[in-house]
Amino acid sequence: MSQEILEYISRRKKEINAMIMAHFYQPPEIQDVADFVGDSLELARLAAVADADVIILCGVSFMAESAKILNPSKTVILPEPTAGCPMADMVTGAALRDKKAQFPNAVVVSYVNTSAEVKAESDVCCTSSNAIAVVNSIPNDQQILFVPDRNLGSYIARQTGRDMILWEGCCPIHDQVSREQVEEQKRAHPGVPVVVHPECPPDVTLMADAVLSTAGIIQYVGSRPEPEFIIGTEEGLLYKLQKTYPDKRFYLARSDFRCQDMKSITLPVLARSMETLEHQVEVPEDIRIKADQALQRMLAIK
Ligand code: 13P
Ligand code: SF4
Repeated sequence: MSQEILEYISRRKKEINAMIMAHFYQPPEIQDVADFVGDSLELARLAAVADADVIILCGVSFMAESAKILNPSKTVILPEPTAGCPMADMVTGAALRDKKAQFPNAVVVSYVNTSAEVKAESDVCCTSSNAIAVVNSIPNDQQILFVPDRNLGSYIARQTGRDMILWEGCCPIHDQVSREQVEEQKRAHPGVPVVVHPECPPDVTLMADAVLSTAGIIQYVGSRPEPEFIIGTEEGLLYKLQKTYPDKRFYLARSDFRCQDMKSITLPVLARSMETLEHQVEVPEDIRIKADQALQRMLAIK
């Protein structure tokens, strides 16, 4: 059954000239069939220049929307239309417009984990890979409004020394990891470095040996001599880590570190979307143009 699906996906991909892109939090079988697996920044950069007719984005809706915004002539498919990001839903375009009215001089920096409408209301986007560089690119005398992740925002504020106005949003998955859970893992694995994603709460990022995006965690592990690591991010990254570094061992900072939205794409769901070419992502052109400006400003920052 699985072999049949794999053969179908490979055959259909050629028929429709598609490129399958997947985030590191996708299930192992999706990572294995993808042409490219990456973090949010890498997915956006590649989507912007992809020349396949169809981009199949195995991730959540904001990732597929970003691909469509950056490369609008392509057919962009999100195989499971309900795959969203609860953090992205914590800010709407209307709520952001209200906040901007309170702080009319603030530069709005929005995490890519936002809707196209929120990006359209923003001056510049960022991901967890480039947020420090994006904030550092803004003149010191400018006030910054950072949406929607208060955890990433407070980490960036600590790193850059900038006093930022933070939106009250968070990732419900990363926000649940506690200092006590990490301490428990440290007791179970003495001396093992702790590497976490900046969406974790401040008391966790403060105790970590490194705070990095998903791609950053992979690079960091490769650059270190230690054979074991405690990892504070969604469990899908462990598959990639184990595959890349088979001689190293990884422990999740807490059990059940799982984003259900990311796990809603399965091989049958992917195969069906390739058969029907659904669900195609569309972004109204007026919103797309403004959102594209915020994304392009981000991509221009090295
Ligand atoms: P990355 O940009 O590190 O891949 O993170 C995306 C995300 O959704 C984290 O929860
Ligand atoms: Fe959104 Fe959190 Fe899932 Fe990432 S892990 S997609 S931020 S809910």
